[in-house]
Amino acid sequence: MRILLIGSGGREHALAWALNALAGKEELFIAPGNAGTAEIGENTALDILDFPAVGKFVIDHRIELLVVGPEQPLVAGIRDYFEREEVLSKVPVFGPSAKGALLEGSKAFAKEFMKRHHIPTARYREITEENAEEGFAFMDTLSPPLVIKADGLAAGKGVLIINDHKKAREELQSVLSGRFGPAGRKVVIEEFLPGTEMSVFAFFDGSHYVLLPTAKDYKRIGEGDSGPNTGGMGAIAPVPFAGADLMRKVEERIVKPTVKGLISEGIDYRGIIYFGLMIVDEEPYVIEYNCRFGDPEAEVIIPLIRDDLPELIRQTALGRLDSSKALRFEGAAATVILASGGYPGNYEKGKPIRGLSEVNDSMVFHAGTRRDDTGQLISNGGRVLAVTSLAPTLAEALKTSLRNAERIEFEGKYFRRDIGQDVLK
Ligand code: AMP
Ligand code: GLY
Repeated sequence: MRILLIGSGGREHALAWALNALAGKEELFIAPGNAGTAEIGENTALDILDFPAVGKFVIDHRIELLVVGPEQPLVAGIRDYFEREEVLSKVPVFGPSAKGALLEGSKAFAKEFMKRHHIPTARYREITEENAEEGFAFMDTLSPPLVIKADGLAAGKGVLIINDHKKAREELQSVLSGRFGPAGRKVVIEEFLPGTEMSVFAFFDGSHYVLLPTAKDYKRIGEGDSGPNTGGMGAIAPVPFAGADLMRKVEERIVKPTVKGLISEGIDYRGIIYFGLMIVDEEPYVIEYNCRFGDPEAEVIIPLIRDDLPELIRQTALGRLDSSKALRFEGAAATVILASGGYPGNYEKGKPIRGLSEVNDSMVFHAGTRRDDTGQLISNGGRVLAVTSLAPTLAEALKTSLRNAERIEFEGKYFRRDIGQDVLK
């Protein structure tokens, strides 16, 4: 089957690795991809937001399935574009419509959706410059820390958590006057939920859903969850504390009302629903929705699944998901991200990467890599590689990933040694 996969991160390398079972090397195209995906399929330098160019590639290369990794093309309406264009309308697309992607693309939309469908989430107000006073008044009713979120996509940087009221007022003012650009002209102010985070993923084909293994990612740059937020410095799956009782609550109070809500509102959604949850005293709340696989969560979930993942992706895109069986997986998976020194601030690219042949018992997914003119593998992003291991226990998986993380070398290499340690205790 001829497949075009959109994206260029570790998530896409993991997806390409899985899709390889359905598409041979000559049949899998990745736009734009990275040095890892180039070993599995053919990279193509398309602008993923230029839908006419993507459409032309799909026609020219007789693509039979489009799999969209990142959120930007979904929020910008790639699925809607394919449905509108007659020659493309028969190509199944894995990923929701622009309306569905608003669950991620607009915090205000997601909050209103949760309110309409009685899905547990933090109390909030939606604020623009016009009703800023209401925002200040709502803040006064909350005890710190205060949470301010830019409405639109802000590449993980649109959330402020502030410890005192005076500072929060100043920040609100600055965000409303454009500090995050247009994404921040509308904000959500919400109550802080103290608890433990975890992520739940479901394939949803418009009518049926299937749950994937749970995962936990480590967003902060520093050990002990310190320092600024990143795209994610590591992940584990499944989450050891997500027992049957908690998962029953998650499914009944969150997953089912979400899919019912999407159906009842007539929202075209065939892809992944990512539920970012906060567990407060054993009670789950939704912190955020995303409309795609998490990255680096994909690098642990995908290798863990024992079922035919490419077939599940195809069925989801076609609206023919078999939801009668739970997915099978055994043991645990861990991934440790090797990042460029300085990330998530300024960092240098182009550092030669060595030692990949020394790795054993781990899979290395490329996140930000490319080959230079001489064919040398070099770093090409903040997050460079994801070192994933599978083992009967999480402790063993973590140990293997850390051992191999040491063996790979590039100038400025940085990684967290404490991924997963909090849930091992
Ligand atoms: P988001 O982009 O909405 O996932 O927010 C980024 C991070 O901020 C989350 O992963 C949480 O760690 C934190 N966060 C967001 N909203 C809240 C909240 N209401 N209470 C506590 N932490 C939050
Ligand atoms: N790892 C967080 C995300 O993909 O949004």
